[in-house]
Amino acid sequence: MLSIFDVLTAQHREVEELFGDIQDAIETSEIPVARLVFQLLSSRLIAGMHAEKTTVYPQLASQAGLVAEIAEAIKQHDAIERAINHVRVSTISDAPWCDAIARLAKLVADHADFEACMLFPIARLSLTPDQVHGLAADYERARTTSVLLAGVSITYEPAPEPSIYCHVRPRAA
Ligand SMILES: [Fe+2]
Repeated sequence: MLSIFDVLTAQHREVEELFGDIQDAIETSEIPVARLVFQLLSSRLIAGMHAEKTTVYPQLASQAGLVAEIAEAIKQHDAIERAINHVRVSTISDAPWCDAIARLAKLVADHADFEACMLFPIARLSLTPDQVHGLAADYERARTTSVLLAGVSITYEPAPEPSIYCHVRPRAA
């Protein structure tokens, strides 16, 4: 049975992979592909953050005493959500879109590091095995529901193949 830490760490890896796919598409000038992968990535991010905020964070605050850390994590979620919305709603052309994706990738990577290095180690010491497994189930249920709400419908005109280089955080080795 997976713990909530296993589940969230796997989510972080999946998100990192999707940013890597976007980077690959940008580097080969397949911007429409990059934009499609972003739609998938942004829906997953929004759903995951919503599920985390409603199931995991309240327990970490009350059971592990991580009140200030959770407040910081929620601020980071809000910044990520604003960055996602900026990319989603704007009709920005390819070069600024690429910059916006790079900024989003940095915010997400920093947040994943914060959770992995700060929240999870303390929470592991404070929660019982039943709690970490129960939280994993609660999180997965909430995420499934949130995916339905986090879908995105944006339209854009795929632009003709500019040659752009954009650095998005590289995949972990
Ligand atoms: Fe988070």
